[in-house]
Amino acid sequence: MRSRQAGLSPMPAVNYEELARFYDALVTDDSDLPYFRDLARQADGPVAEFMAGSGRLSVPIAEDGIDLTCVDSSQEMLSLLREKLVARGARARVVCGDVTRVELGTQFTLIFIAFHSFEELASDTERQACLENVLRHLHAGGRFVCTTHDVPSRLASVGPGKGDRWRFRDPQSQREVTLSLETEYDDTTGVVQGEEALSFANDDVPFLRLPLRFRLIRPEAFSRLADEAGFIVKSVRADFTTTEYREGQCRTAVWTLCPRRTV
Ligand SMILES: C[S@@+](CC[C@H](N)C(=O)[O-])C[C@H]1O[C@@H](n2cnc3c(N)ncnc32)[C@H](O)[C@@H]1O
Repeated sequence: MRSRQAGLSPMPAVNYEELARFYDALVTDDSDLPYFRDLARQADGPVAEFMAGSGRLSVPIAEDGIDLTCVDSSQEMLSLLREKLVARGARARVVCGDVTRVELGTQFTLIFIAFHSFEELASDTERQACLENVLRHLHAGGRFVCTTHDVPSRLASVGPGKGDRWRFRDPQSQREVTLSLETEYDDTTGVVQGEEALSFANDDVPFLRLPLRFRLIRPEAFSRLADEAGFIVKSVRADFTTTEYREGQCRTAVWTLCPRRTV
């Protein structure tokens, strides 16, 4: 396994170098794909997915012939993305880098961060740096679309006795794997942390334990950060619909931000 480039990235929310080989078997919900695919088709210019991972969204978008750049800090996740691009005959620019400071030398009409990944940037400093870096890479008339968890609905599965479990098949051994996630919440910091434990069926002892840590962000805090970075909030929608987001009534807030200077 390749090592993370020294000093490249802040502490990740989870060790994606270890999780990568299971990621696509584990994350099979593509209900956000039609939304991002349409956005990319309508972008009328170069598109970038920041925190693109193994290309769950980026690969189908690249298959649509979009001029796409995919950025992620995990070499292992990007290896999966590259393999899928080759297998499907699609093209995209793939960059291993930290979204808080990567320099792509291109301006995009659309940049997006999906799957609540923004909340994996733990500190306000990293979040601010990410937003400022997105802004630097956007055309004056471009858009940044970012999803965040609805905090009340995410907290429904956090805390003692509220853990989550997933079953899937290990792509390498074909053995059935159970992933158990137990987390706790610190409401002074907004941090959710815990451990993902992966075990093979009938084994009591997990073969892999991965610490997990991310920090939920409430709408007021996201709006404030966006404003400080130089964005205006064009819309906040609930769960990829046209309905305006209201806290506690959906799972995901879908933010559309525009550079302030164009308004
Ligand atoms: C939950 S995964 C989402 C992957 C993909 N966007 C999806 O929807 O399936 C989060 C991704 O963010 C990446 N990531 C975390 N911190 C990062 C950073 N500072 N810079 C770039 N990528 C980062 C991880 O390596 C991981 O692939």
